[in-house]
Amino acid sequence: MSDAGELDALLHEDRRFPPPGVFTGQANCNDPEIYDRAAGDPEAYWSGWASELDWFEPWHTVLDWKPPHAKWFVGGKINVAHNCLDRHVEAGRGDRTALIWEGEPGDTRTFSYAELHREVSQFSNALRGLGVEKGDRVTIYLPMIPEAAVAMLACTRIGAIHSVVFGGFSPDSLADRNNDAESKVLITADGGWRRGSVVPLKANADVALEQSPTVTNVVVVARGGDLTDHTPVTMKEGRDHWYHDLMAESSSDCPAVQMDAEDTLFILYTSGTTGKPKGVVHTTGGYLTQTYATTKTVFDLKDDDVYWCTADVGWITGHSYIVYGPLANCAQVVMYEGAPDTPDRGRFWQLCEKYGVTIFYTAPTAIRAFMRWGEEWPGKADLSSLRLLGTVGEPINPEAWMWYHEVIGGERCPIVDTWWQTETGAIMISPLPGLTVTKPGTATRALPGIEAAIRDEAGNDTAAGYLAITTPWPSMLRTVWGDEERFKETYWSKWRNVYFPGDGAKVDEDGYLWILGRVDDVLNVAGHRIGTMEVESALVDHPSVVESAVVGKAHEIKGESIAAFVTLKEDIDGSDELMSELRNHVGMKIGAIAKPEMVVFTAELPKTRSGKIMRRLLRDIAEGRTIGDTTTLADPAVVKKLQAMHEGDEG
Ligand code: WT7
Repeated sequence: MSDAGELDALLHEDRRFPPPGVFTGQANCNDPEIYDRAAGDPEAYWSGWASELDWFEPWHTVLDWKPPHAKWFVGGKINVAHNCLDRHVEAGRGDRTALIWEGEPGDTRTFSYAELHREVSQFSNALRGLGVEKGDRVTIYLPMIPEAAVAMLACTRIGAIHSVVFGGFSPDSLADRNNDAESKVLITADGGWRRGSVVPLKANADVALEQSPTVTNVVVVARGGDLTDHTPVTMKEGRDHWYHDLMAESSSDCPAVQMDAEDTLFILYTSGTTGKPKGVVHTTGGYLTQTYATTKTVFDLKDDDVYWCTADVGWITGHSYIVYGPLANCAQVVMYEGAPDTPDRGRFWQLCEKYGVTIFYTAPTAIRAFMRWGEEWPGKADLSSLRLLGTVGEPINPEAWMWYHEVIGGERCPIVDTWWQTETGAIMISPLPGLTVTKPGTATRALPGIEAAIRDEAGNDTAAGYLAITTPWPSMLRTVWGDEERFKETYWSKWRNVYFPGDGAKVDEDGYLWILGRVDDVLNVAGHRIGTMEVESALVDHPSVVESAVVGKAHEIKGESIAAFVTLKEDIDGSDELMSELRNHVGMKIGAIAKPEMVVFTAELPKTRSGKIMRRLLRDIAEGRTIGDTTTLADPAVVKKLQAMHEGDEG
């Protein structure tokens, strides 16, 4: 969380940006009454959105709320792929562009809604051919290629539950997720391009598969282009199948199964406060309703928009705002495989110009990197097609907001700062671009139909404390896969019947919410969520390490970076080599995103007399701050030594 001074500065932000005239006139949401109307009858509000979707059978009850269990649109039968594809094709919109994909090397592919529908149906049949049935789990470990969306939609078409694993995760992380979900099938690719080199996904998957006994079939997409020259792939007879071979023998006739509104749609693993990531469970009808509605209202999506969200499908943003929300709205969606600085730092802006992107959604960490790279890069491209900008993933500092507004948005595009989480499934707190006066740095207020508050430990309203969501919402997580206790404990034990997201927040004089960051042991590194305990377990897994404590350290671009304090075995000396070995060890155990930026060797960790590691203190040390109260320390000398050591490190 930001310190007090920084916070005061934030809350005195007095720049205000009313919706531009063109927005108030034509926005999908331009009636300010919408908030009160939704608050007066949230069930009517949400069922209004749900009825814009195609249901095989209508629901009989909008909401069945037995805290902490919500059921939405009870009794309704629906299929997500049908709503994202068939519905549009049947309405005569089959020729409309669904996906515009560009690979990092510059290769391109596009799919019309009819083509995507055919591809998905065919792949659904291919999965069926491998024995996948309704309710079975399928792991998807793919680069950002169209087949990622195809695979997700193919699962939903036949009622299989997908678990997408970000392609940057290590074989160990992939295996853990395969095993927790007991996945039957894994879908991967020979590789994908990232910053000019190939990520060898199949080779990683092979390692993971040695420890994934439930996976009996593997589908491998040939990424295409000249990638095959870079990554030799070994196919295991009887287990591994090329995607194109399966497709060649599969029919494109595959009626969508009727799913119960509350059938599980997908599992997505996210980091929590223990060493083990949790499988967040989302269901069908409510999730689709809220992603559909928020895409339309928050992004003001219109028929002629070209929409680009830069997230990876491995994260919830990619699920909700590349695939399900936009396709349910029949949007024209841009999807890009690679890095923003390949072949040069102007790549994103070239893409915006080339495809005439009108709505652009990215993360503050990316915006800060663009700022650092300089205005000349966006300056080389024509960005006049842009009309709306969005951010997500972490608090955006006002300076980055202003830069985004001026340099990318040409001072004409509203910015929607959208707060939500893997668990919420869809956007919860955000401006509505035709209605909300925005201020740099705040996600403003809860969307219509959502109730957010700031509560203290005891559950009383307060101006600064914990963010709380006080009423159920359609796309809320239903449980943690295989761990109902953890679901209750993590989200529902702080207050009675009120959801605890794990963020700190403040409210200002306009009633706007300022999200201050996590209050638990979860880090937000470049918009990616990483549990300190996960990194600690990876470190102690190394033979030289006895104990470790991991904290977040403020980082100019990433928001937070990882600092690790490590105690070594008695006969082992901390060297620079060991430092990089430990960093790589974490990379190997979890994935490159979790590598600590700073490693400090210490003979002891500062602990309270009851043995609790004093993380606050370690954070102070990592950030070079003066140390606060240490009277609860079991051994105050430890801190002196640590500080001396760290200062020594920094030269
Ligand atoms: C955590 C959720 C939602 C998709 C990406 C991250 C932080 C997210 C904002 C925002 C301030 C934000 C919160 C939240 N966060 N959006 N607009 N302003 N903080 O999903 O990995 O589940 O992380 O990201 O701390 O709890 P996630």
